[in-house]
Parts: sequence; C-alpha cells; structure tokens
Amino acid sequence: REGHPMSRTVPVPHGLPMDRDAGPFDPPSAITRLRDARPVSPLVFPDGHEGWLVTGYDAVRRLLADTRFSSRPDIGILHVPYETPGMPAATEPSPQVPGLFIAMDPPDHTRLRRKLTGAFTVRRMKQLEEHIVDVVERQLDEMARLTQPVDLVKEFALPVPSLVICELLGVPYADRETFQVNTAKFLVKDQALDEKMAAYGALTTYLAELVALKRAAPGEDILSDLARDDDLTVEELIGIAFLLLLAGHETTANMLALGAFALLEHPEQLAELRADPELMSDAVEELTRYLAVADIFYRYATEDIELGGETIGKGSTVVVSLLAANRDPLRFDNPDALDIHRKARGHLSFGHGVHLCLGQQLARLEMRAGFEGLLRRFPNLELAVPAGEVKLKSDMNIYGVHELPVCLRPVSTY
Ligand code: HEM
Repeated sequence: REGHPMSRTVPVPHGLPMDRDAGPFDPPSAITRLRDARPVSPLVFPDGHEGWLVTGYDAVRRLLADTRFSSRPDIGILHVPYETPGMPAATEPSPQVPGLFIAMDPPDHTRLRRKLTGAFTVRRMKQLEEHIVDVVERQLDEMARLTQPVDLVKEFALPVPSLVICELLGVPYADRETFQVNTAKFLVKDQALDEKMAAYGALTTYLAELVALKRAAPGEDILSDLARDDDLTVEELIGIAFLLLLAGHETTANMLALGAFALLEHPEQLAELRADPELMSDAVEELTRYLAVADIFYRYATEDIELGGETIGKGSTVVVSLLAANRDPLRFDNPDALDIHRKARGHLSFGHGVHLCLGQQLARLEMRAGFEGLLRRFPNLELAVPAGEVKLKSDMNIYGVHELPVCLRPVSTY
C-alpha cells in the first residue's frame, strides 16, 4: 500500500474534543470555551505533532478564503492529515487522488471544478425542482403505507438525496447498496485502514465499470457529459463520480434527519413553521447554520501565515470547526438558539472560498422540498422514542442521527 494516495488515512484525532456534552445539536463545550478564549488555538495531535484548531467565525472565514492554506494533505471528509504513530512525518502535501478536487489546490482544482459549474448553476437546479418535489412525494407516499413507528433516516432522509443524485449523475438507483454501504463505511471515524481501503476499492471498482459504460454509450446525465470530455482521464472521471456521489447524498441525508429531530425538539419553532410555510427558506438556512453536519475540515499551511493574532507556521496542519464558527456570538446574536426568523445567510456550513460547496443550491432545494412535504403530509409527526435515546452520529465524520424512529400520526387515530 506504500505510496498509494489513500494510504495515509488514519482515525480522527482523539485529541480533539468531540463529545456532544452540551446537547445533541451543540458544539462540544470544550470547543466553545476554546473559541471564546482563543479562536485560533494550538493543538497537539495523538502522534505528538503540533497543529492548530480554528473556531472563531472571522478566523475560519479568512482561512477558507486564503489558498495559502492548502487542501491537499488530507482529502477533506475522507482523510485526516496527521501521521499514524511510527510513520515518518509528512514534509510536503500527499499525492493527489485523480479527480478528487475537494483535496486539490488551484490550478488543478480550478481545472476540474470548472467542468462542473455549468451543471450546478441556480438555473439548472431550478429546472430540477419539480423532479425533486416528485421524489419527495413518492417517498412520503411509501412512508404513509408503513406500519409505525418508521425510521425517518431509512425511509426518507437517505432515499431522497440518493434518488436525486443518482438521477443527476446517471447512476442506477438499484445499485444504491454498493454506494450507500461503502460511503457510510468511509465516514466512520475510527474505521480501520483496511476496512476503509476495502470500501474505497469496492466503490472505485463499481464506478470504473460505470464510467466505462458512459464512455462507450453516453446518455443524458452529468457523468455522461463528463465522459464525452476527452480532456478528462478515466481515473479523473472515477474520482469526480466518487466525490459527487459521496458529497451528494450523505450530507443532505444527515441534514434532513437531524433537521427533523431539531424541529421536533423545538416545538414552538415547528409550530410557527407549520403555520407559515413562507418561512421555509429562512428555516432551511437557519437549520443549515445551526447544525453544520459537515463540521470538521483540514488545511495545511504552505508558508508562515498570520491568523487571528497568531502565527501559523509553514507545514502546520490546521483543523477548522464550521459549527463553532456558526455559533460565534461575535457574528450571530444568541447563536445557540435555533431561530427560524433569523437571516442566517453568511453561515459557513457550505464552506467559503474556492471550495465553497458545489451542491449548495441542490442541497437547499432538497431540504426545502423535504421539510415542506414532511410537515404538510404528517401534521402530527412525533418522535417514537425519548429524545435521549436517539442514536447520534458522534462516531462519524458527518454528524447526524443513525436512526430517527417517528410516528406519523397519533396511534389513537389508528
Ligand atoms: C464542498 C457542505 C451538499 C458537493 C463542500 C464543503 C462543505 C460542504 C463545507 C467545503 C469543503 C472544503 O472547504 O474543504 C455541504 C453540506 C451539504 C452539502 C452541509 C448539505 C446540506 C452537497 C451536495 C453536493 C455537494 C448535495 C452534490 C453534488 C460538493 C462538492 C464539494 C463540496 C463537489 C467540493 C467543492 C470544491 O472542492 O470545489 N460541501 N455540502 N455538496 N460539496 Fe457540499
């Protein structure tokens, strides 16, 4: 495995406080305290090497806008950048995985991202809106036929974005087992390296076949459009497909399920939203700020850089918490309150700078249609277990709930 670009995958730092001790929706209290005391803080990784943790809104935003902080050493949600104990320390960014532009810097990043911007414009996404609403309605129909309680993750939050991204990319939904199971394995924080490599291998083998089919007989979908482009190698096509498939369903799925849980736990907000569906856009923005399911990202300083009054030395690994930044009282009033009336734009849940989420408009449409349909069709939606028993994804690189058992209407009406 030596030299393979994925071979530096190791578990998330145990040195980083990750315990959701302040509540299921709030940052760990240790992170909040650090942000308020020193928004750019030194951090020691489990292997002893020193880095930085950035938690203040202003510092996080500046960092994300500054390409001297490289995205290369880790591959975003897939990698963590420090060395496994016993391995030699990195002296330069790790090799690139072809096509995985979330883990590239300009100009490599620019070249690949540019190939996709046309497919994800606001206008193209608007054209998809009706289809997304149909997908949501069909899924709600199916849910209504099930015996209660139902698991909202399995029956709604995961299928909706999976169906949509499959349709967009031209991936057969029937193959969802392959990518849902393997991407989920990829996102387990303490997953053994072998397991991660096996999941990655299974996914890339699957995608290699799919990409070959698209090259031979392109259809009307994003992967086919990319396959028509001779400038892209087969390896790049596989990497892009992998990134879009992973980013395109896991994040939104977790937002839908954790968002439903958060609304159920804030009954006054939920009642106001039900009473006035016009509030939906603001509510989605606020839920996105408040929950920041894709919280932790990594960067690597390519030179000495001043940030928030500290000097981040060349070669340092920098850990960023988007959730902590979104809850910074210097940026948002009463930041730990879920307030669907607030104008939450400016939050950092979709990132900032050159890597700003490519799928943000798609994600917004899916969340609006998803929450709108769910609340309209099931006016008595409620948790089927005590809130404290909901299984949280503290063990995953993207936060959310593993299951959300809900009743769709009071059992007495049965
Ligand atoms: C990048 C969050 C949905 C595709 C990102 C980044 C964040 C993020 C924080 C920046 C990563 C960085 O700076 O290293 C989210 C959240 C979502 C969501 C919270 C759901 C609510 C989607 C969807 C797609 C998508 C539906 C579908 C295609 C991407 C891609 C990138 C990205 C391709 C890499 C962009 C680049 O490197 O230029 N996302 N995302 N995301 N996201 Fe999303």
